[in-house]
Amino acid sequence: MQVVKTTAALRASLAGARDTAFVPTMGNLHEGHLALVRQARQAAGAGAPVVASIFVNRLQFAPHEDFDSYPRTFERDAQLLQENGCDIVFAPSESDLYPEPQDVKVHPPAALADVLEGAFRPGFFIGVCTVVLKLFNAVQPHLAVFGKKDYQQLMVIRHMVRQLALPVQVLAGETCRADDGLALSSRNGYLAAAERAEAPALARSLRELAAAVQAGRSDWAALEQAAMDGLRSRGWAPDYVALRRQADLQPPAAAGEALVVVAAARLGQTRLIDNLELPARG
Ligand code: PAF
Repeated sequence: MQVVKTTAALRASLAGARDTAFVPTMGNLHEGHLALVRQARQAAGAGAPVVASIFVNRLQFAPHEDFDSYPRTFERDAQLLQENGCDIVFAPSESDLYPEPQDVKVHPPAALADVLEGAFRPGFFIGVCTVVLKLFNAVQPHLAVFGKKDYQQLMVIRHMVRQLALPVQVLAGETCRADDGLALSSRNGYLAAAERAEAPALARSLRELAAAVQAGRSDWAALEQAAMDGLRSRGWAPDYVALRRQADLQPPAAAGEALVVVAAARLGQTRLIDNLELPARG
């Protein structure tokens, strides 16, 4: 496995590669990321290099968020990537990826990107889309894998790829969970022991809400409110628990649509997100 730290070195390493598979990350890798790398390896086809990027993207962090304290664990990450079939780690510096102030940015549409995560993290998806487009330009992949754990991010990236006609096939990776149901996340490492014991309650509340919908309830707002009240009673501060259409993340319009329940909630200082897809009914 090669480690390259500049876009120029990446281009030189990939010269002559016909197809390239890509997994963008911010590092501090866990099994969820590694599953995406293995998925990329499998989907890439023989001889196609798998590139994983490690870049903590300042542009997608608000000033009060954890950009400075975001764990940087490069040596360990590189070792894990090597063990999981990655061929090239692309770990650019900020000055390589953003050699000048980035005043051209990708603005995804408000209906998709200013709701849910976007409502609580203004500008987040502008930062994500801008860096993903820059990374796509550097890597020029024919396929890229994004985790469903960041469900809205996956939707926003797919929309950008479609609207800008980028020649990249976007694959979705399933969410990896700990045995107790907690979705794996780099931010789980922030949880104190007691918080870690409580954390699976978020996934549990999504499963309960999903079960109620599967059982035929369609009083969406009441179900969302009950889930948030339940979390609050256990000491969480939920930002949202919302039932949305898988197709466009808008509120359900009719019974039977394929839905996803998405949630973000703070436990102590740590903000966790999770989601659960519900199959279409009837
Ligand atoms: O999901 C992430 O880790 C980041 O948002 C991404 C896609 C690597 C862009 O910085």
